[in-house]
Amino acid sequence: MANQDDQFKKVISHAKEYGYVFQSSEIYDGLSAVYDYAQNGVELKKNIRDYWWKAMVQMNENIVGLDAAIFMHPTTWKASGHVDAFNDPLIDNKDSKKRYRADVLIEDYCAKIETKIEKEVKKAEKRFGEAFNKAEFISTNGRVVGYQEKINTILSRMGKSLENEDLADVKALIEELEIACPLSGSKNWTDVKQFNLMFGTKLGASAESAMDLYLRPETAQGIFVNFLNVQKTGRMKIPFGIAQTGKAFRNEIVARQFIFRMREFEQMEMQFFIKPGTQKEWYEHWKETRLKWHLSLGMGQDNYRFHDHEKLAHYADAAADIEFKFPFGFKELEGIHSRTDFDLSQHEKFSGKKLQYFDHEENKSYVPYVLETSIGLDRMFLAVFSNALQEEALENGTTRTVLKLPSVLAPVKAAILPLVKKDGLPEVAKEILEDLKWDFNVIYDEKDAVGRRYRRQDANGTPFCITVDHDTLEDQSVTIRHRDSMEQERVKISDLKAIIKSEVEVRTWLKKMK
Ligand code: GAP
Repeated sequence: MANQDDQFKKVISHAKEYGYVFQSSEIYDGLSAVYDYAQNGVELKKNIRDYWWKAMVQMNENIVGLDAAIFMHPTTWKASGHVDAFNDPLIDNKDSKKRYRADVLIEDYCAKIETKIEKEVKKAEKRFGEAFNKAEFISTNGRVVGYQEKINTILSRMGKSLENEDLADVKALIEELEIACPLSGSKNWTDVKQFNLMFGTKLGASAESAMDLYLRPETAQGIFVNFLNVQKTGRMKIPFGIAQTGKAFRNEIVARQFIFRMREFEQMEMQFFIKPGTQKEWYEHWKETRLKWHLSLGMGQDNYRFHDHEKLAHYADAAADIEFKFPFGFKELEGIHSRTDFDLSQHEKFSGKKLQYFDHEENKSYVPYVLETSIGLDRMFLAVFSNALQEEALENGTTRTVLKLPSVLAPVKAAILPLVKKDGLPEVAKEILEDLKWDFNVIYDEKDAVGRRYRRQDANGTPFCITVDHDTLEDQSVTIRHRDSMEQERVKISDLKAIIKSEVEVRTWLKKMK
C-alpha cells in the first residue's frame, strides 16, 4: 500500500510540476475535488477527446455528434429518475465527524484483500520462476481462492442490499467486517442514509419567477431529449448512435483520489439506438469495441479487466465496467450500459411527446432500446498519465523520469533544440519550428546543456527531440532522439514532417483496433 501511495503522490506532484493539473483556486487554498488543466494538461485532454471522437464519430458512418446545453428543463431529471434515485449511501463516523460513502468503505475493504492476493501471486511468481502459471495458481491456491470467495460474498451481499434499499444491512455489513474510520480508527458509525448527488441552481432574475434547475449529472440526457430531432434531420436509420462530450456535475460525498472522482468533470458518452431484442448482441459488441479502443493505446492488456455490475442502475438491464489498474488498484474507467427503452419511454411519459422510430423494414413504430458507452475524460487522463510516468534506471547508473505518453496523445510532439545558442544554430532551429508548427504542436528550447533539455522533455512526455548542430549548416540534417528508446538518428530536415507524422497521427494508432 505504501508503495502505491508513494507512486500516486508522485503522479500528483509531477502533474503539477510539469503544468498538467493544478488544484482549482489554489491561492485560496483550493476547492475540494475541483481541478484546473494547465498548459500541457489541456493539450493532453484535448488529444484524448479527439482520439475518442475520431474513433466514435469520424470512423462510424452511423454515429453523429451533438453538443447539448448543460442546463436542461428540470422535468428531464424527474423523467430520468435522477431526482428520486441518483443517490449514494452515506455514513458518518460519530467520532471523527467524517462522512463516507458506505459502499466505498466496503469496496476499500475488499481492495485490501485483493492486495493480499497480489502479494501471494508475486511470492509464487518468485518461487516458481519461468514455470509459473498465474491463472492456474489463482484458481487452485487455497489461500487465494479463500480471499477471492470472501470478496465475492461481501460484494454480492452489498449489491443485493443496495438494490433492495436495505440500508440497515449495509451498516450491519460494515460492522461485521469491523471497518474502522480511516481518520479516527473508531467503529462508531451512524445509520446509512441516501444522499442525492445533483447540484441545484436557479434560472431567472426574481425570486418569485426563478425556476429550480440542476447542473446535469450526466451528458446522456441531452442525447435522449434530442433523439428524434437528430434522427429526423440526419435521416438516421436504426441502429445509429449519437455521441457527445461535455461537463457533468456531481456533489460527490467522497471526493478524493485527485482527478479520479471530481465534482465537476467531463464525460464522453455515446447512446446507440437499436431494435428492441437486439440489446444482448450490441452489449457484447460495444464491450469488445471499447476495450479495443483502450488497447490500441498500448497501455498493457494486463491493466484492463471487465467488471460486471452486481447492482444495476435504475435504468439498466445489464452493465459492465472496463476497469483500469490505477496507482491505487483496479477501478472503473468506463461503463457499458444496456439502458433498455427506459429513458426514451420516461421522456415520452413526462413530455407527452412521442419518441418513436418508424422502422420501414418492420413496418411499425417502436421506442428504440439503447446501448450506452460512457467514459470519464478526466479519469482517462489519469489512466494515461499515471501509466506513463516511470522512473527508469539507465545503463550508466543514473535514473531518468520519463512520461511515456502514447505519442498520439502527447501535448508537445517535438522540441527543437539548437546545440548551442550561437553560430546561426538558433536561427535554423527556429526555421524548423516555423515549418513544423503548421502540422504539430512543437516547442523551441535553448536553455541549459542539451542533455538536461532531453531530460526535461522526457519528463514532459515529448516523443521527439530534434537537435540542430554545426553539421546541420553543411548537410541540412539534424539528430532526432526518440523519447522511449533514447535512440538517436541522423535525418534530413526535409524528412522530419513525415517521420513525426507516421508516429503521432491518429490513423497509426486507431488502426490497431482492427
Ligand atoms: N450516463 C451514464 C453514467 O453517467 P456513470 O457510471 O455514472 O454512468 C460514467 O459515469 C463514467 O463517468 C464513469 O465510468 C467515470 O469514468 C466517469 N465519472 C463518473 N463520476 C465521476 C466523477 N465524479 N469524477 C470523474 N469521473 C467520473
